[in-house]
Amino acid sequence: MWRRCLWALLPLLGPWFRPVHGVFQKLYCSLSDSCECDFKPDLRGLEWDLYRNVFGQHLAQDAVSQEVSAFIRTKSPERPLVLSLHGGSGTGKTLVSSMLVSHLYGSGVNSPHVHRFSPTLHFPRKERVHQYRVALKDWVQGNLTACARSVFLFDEMENMPPGLIDVLEPFLGPSHVVYSTNYRKAIYVFISTVGERVISTVTLDARSSGRDRDEIRLNELQEAISQEAFNSTHGGLSRSRILSQSLVTVFVPFLPLTRVHVERCVQAQLCQRGQCERSDVVQAVGGAMSYSPKLGHYFSSTGCKAIPAKINLYL
Ligand SMILES: Nc1ncnc2c1ncn2[C@@H]1O[C@H](COP(=O)(O)OP(=O)(O)OP(=O)(O)O)[C@@H](O)[C@H]1O
Ligand SMILES: [Mg+2]
Repeated sequence: MWRRCLWALLPLLGPWFRPVHGVFQKLYCSLSDSCECDFKPDLRGLEWDLYRNVFGQHLAQDAVSQEVSAFIRTKSPERPLVLSLHGGSGTGKTLVSSMLVSHLYGSGVNSPHVHRFSPTLHFPRKERVHQYRVALKDWVQGNLTACARSVFLFDEMENMPPGLIDVLEPFLGPSHVVYSTNYRKAIYVFISTVGERVISTVTLDARSSGRDRDEIRLNELQEAISQEAFNSTHGGLSRSRILSQSLVTVFVPFLPLTRVHVERCVQAQLCQRGQCERSDVVQAVGGAMSYSPKLGHYFSSTGCKAIPAKINLYL
């Protein structure tokens, strides 16, 4: 109670007290378990990490840094931020989602306000969709009541039973009060390999017409990814009202990676092991990966996945 009183007093102290506001906040935060205290967005750090450590994904870098900055800087957002990450295996979707949360909270990916769901672990049985819906809604609602600044990550949406995610529909729209909680400050991240086909086609077409891959624009892929996810016969986004009601803020495409990108991944991982100079290993691993399509062999079939095991073979 007295903690709340201290917090309520701060605005009354007037502008001349601003220099000590930080001191009061520190004091308050050292005594409180308020989630706003753990919410310490480091937007520059996020941008830096995205542009420095994610290779070949200009669309994801731009979309995530811009949308997250705009959302965090808006004091009273009209609706939550809903990012839907799409692309082939090993292209960096989980990596980017981890970077995002690690720069939002003081305790990073381990923050109690980051909720990561993996369908194979949390929603393994299709016939239990009804129970999962009840449990998921309760979980989200309860956590939003405790902390408006919550992040809900749904990885591997392609393995989620259809019909489940729609239980979140009331939380994602622009209505003003849902279950008496300020749900509009939350961030939702959906991650899926669905959409990979259309992303590959656009990247291949750009290549065949002599366009640089960096010239591919975000809006070339928005509608196409949404359609492919909606029309897919399986997965959590299949026929989802979240798509038909346009509740996704942005579809974030992850382009297929080329050998150049794979070699950058190998180089980065070698450097982490203190073996930066082993260009022979970079070449060997780059050459040992499989590439598609059959005609051209432009893109790594598994992106940068499983590189550590390959490095071990050649070191
Ligand atoms: N674009 C990239 N830049 C740098 N590293 C990458 C990139 N893509 C993948 N990696 C690395 O490859 C590994 C696998 O990446 P990640 O788990 O993000 O793939 P994913 O897209 O989530 O794949 P999946 O759909 O199979 O889960 C990680 O170690 C990650 O650091
Ligand atoms: Mg992943």
